[in-house]
Amino acid sequence: MRVFTSLLFVHACLAAITCTAQTRMSSPDGHMKLSVFQYTDGRLGYKLEQDATVVMDSSQLGISIKEKGDLLTGFTIKSIDSAFKDMTWATVWGEESEIRDLHKTLIVHARHSNSHVLLDIEFRLFNDGLGFRYIFPQQETLRNFTVTNELTTFHLTDNHTAWWIPGDYDTNEYYYTKSRLSNVDAQKASIKMAEIATRTVIDKSVVQAPLMLKTDNGLYIHIFEAALVNYPAMHLRIGEDNQTLTSQLVPDAVGNMAYLNAPCHTPWRTIIASKQATDILASRIILNLNEPCALTETDWIKPMKFVGVWWEMHVGVSSWEYSNDRNIQLQTTDWNALKPNGHHGATTENTKRYIDFAAANGIDAVLVEGWNVGWEDWFGNWKENVFDFVTPYPDFDVAAVEAYAKEKGVQMIMHHETSASVTNYERRLQEAMTFMQTHHYPAVKTGYVGRIIPRGEWHDGQWMVNHYVYVAQEMAKRHLMVDAHEPVRPTGLHRTYPNWLACEAARGNEFNAWSQGNPPEHETILPFTRLMGGPMDYTPGIFEIKMSAYGQQTGNQVHTTLAKQLALYVTMYSPLQMAADLPQNYEKHLDAFQFIKDVPVDWQKTLYLEAEPGEFITIARKQKNTQDWYLGAITNSDGRSTKIALNFLDPGKVYKATVYADAPDADWKKNPTAYVITEQMVRSNSVLDLKLAPGGGAAVSIKAVEEN
Ligand code: NOJ
Ligand code: CA
Repeated sequence: MRVFTSLLFVHACLAAITCTAQTRMSSPDGHMKLSVFQYTDGRLGYKLEQDATVVMDSSQLGISIKEKGDLLTGFTIKSIDSAFKDMTWATVWGEESEIRDLHKTLIVHARHSNSHVLLDIEFRLFNDGLGFRYIFPQQETLRNFTVTNELTTFHLTDNHTAWWIPGDYDTNEYYYTKSRLSNVDAQKASIKMAEIATRTVIDKSVVQAPLMLKTDNGLYIHIFEAALVNYPAMHLRIGEDNQTLTSQLVPDAVGNMAYLNAPCHTPWRTIIASKQATDILASRIILNLNEPCALTETDWIKPMKFVGVWWEMHVGVSSWEYSNDRNIQLQTTDWNALKPNGHHGATTENTKRYIDFAAANGIDAVLVEGWNVGWEDWFGNWKENVFDFVTPYPDFDVAAVEAYAKEKGVQMIMHHETSASVTNYERRLQEAMTFMQTHHYPAVKTGYVGRIIPRGEWHDGQWMVNHYVYVAQEMAKRHLMVDAHEPVRPTGLHRTYPNWLACEAARGNEFNAWSQGNPPEHETILPFTRLMGGPMDYTPGIFEIKMSAYGQQTGNQVHTTLAKQLALYVTMYSPLQMAADLPQNYEKHLDAFQFIKDVPVDWQKTLYLEAEPGEFITIARKQKNTQDWYLGAITNSDGRSTKIALNFLDPGKVYKATVYADAPDADWKKNPTAYVITEQMVRSNSVLDLKLAPGGGAAVSIKAVEEN
């Protein structure tokens, strides 16, 4: 690692009337260029170019605080520091085992003339983009303060094409719309997806970050944030010119954005840009901007695959609740006296069935939802005292399940649905974790369905952001892993807290069970948006595609072929992957299930071979500590042929490739479960010829064979 700091300030006055002075810095490879300048009114600004292309035109920097007003105009630059860093760090798990952090730093130390507030702005310029954040150093003028607005802009060069979801403060479970920025109507989009719109205060022109953009000249631009801690999530407001985006923070219950205490800093704002869509997926800027691992020991953290008493509830075969009596009270209801409804999913017997299936197929763990009392009246009733996380239903024998899982060598995953009653969860958290440890559950899936109780906060506000981090930290202290559903979208914090394996924080596969579902292009957009901040518990692997199999008359179905469900294990990276379907559905297709058994959840390295948001993605990954590769290719509703050169294989080796492909007549709607499995021997000079059905995909295992 080489780091040096030097003082650098080039007073190269721009002729342009907008600026008074500027500092320029280029990325380590010289292609990305950052200009930091002042407008004539003392505002600070930045501009980002890649070679001769403007990525972000002159954009302003600023923040409003209740106690001091707008920190926007009238800044004096006191000094500027710069530094260079080149180091490689090892991941605990991930898409690759090592990540290079190569960037230059520029820190502008400024003083706001009216209020005398000291504000530093730190920029880190990488070969593939930029990160910057506001830093409030320790100062007499400012101690505790309230952020009322952030004034950062992202001034695009035109009305670009965007893949966006509405700027809902409470949920990110939307599918994406592709449109010009001028055609964004977030209100309309959220109404169209009313199955999850919890509150309807969505502004027409506010969309969520991460935002994926493409210019007419084929430049891909990605805007997001990194290391979101003690601050609200940043959404983006589209200006009337359809090309200026302004940071829109998520407010708290009384309309403030954040409560801070100097010295402190905001999260990083990130801009990634490339002419190649695959470079966006390959960018490690967000992870590099996060703090190194905060845990001293990490060998207890284990990526894993799991099955669960879960999808059967989503498709309506069984229920989370034990009885039909909705008149329950956590403290006073005599659970043993309740009449069972006859289709409770989380029974000891049913759980053992999943444990047997996991044990027989080398699946690491079993999740059980609906095991604990409270589900009769858990949602929509604003009950603070909704779950206690330690009392099982009468038909779920915790000790018997624990013993059976141990005997079979299978781990159990705990479920803490909080029903968004967050203060209740915080009060009960220590007891709930002790319960997990007593019964040897190494991981928990948390959930925050509904509006936050006590009332007023939003899922993406500072208060909740702090809650999710707190839970990950507390779990880490006890060596417990976390998979958070309905949290704010991740921003790379799994580098700092690698026990935080995955989040949902987007529209998962479950929507296909009980709603209009996820359109076929959905999984080709998620890696460019939601997954840029961290792994998703998408729950792939649904083999029974049509919900009519469960007697549903809705026409609901998974909007992919079966082969595409397999490919998702490669294209949607997560260290925690569910084999989400029911054991009986896998038993009908054990040949295809072999891919799910084989596919790893931790990788040595990853190659993004081809990609276009909304169209297709092909990714190859090398398993950690082996010579084996896995490849996933997916498409949208259009069929696709692609030839994949295997020149990434070791030239000295021979491999057996098993291709799990769509059958020639497969189609996500008309014939989703038609697949063919073929085997061939391949080398580094081989080319795979893949044919993807409409809504289809291909999954390939490429295992090195011993040569005689
Ligand atoms: C929503 C989660 O995304 C889903 O996975 C879970 O089954 C339900 N909430 C119940 O907790
Ligand atoms: Ca969810």
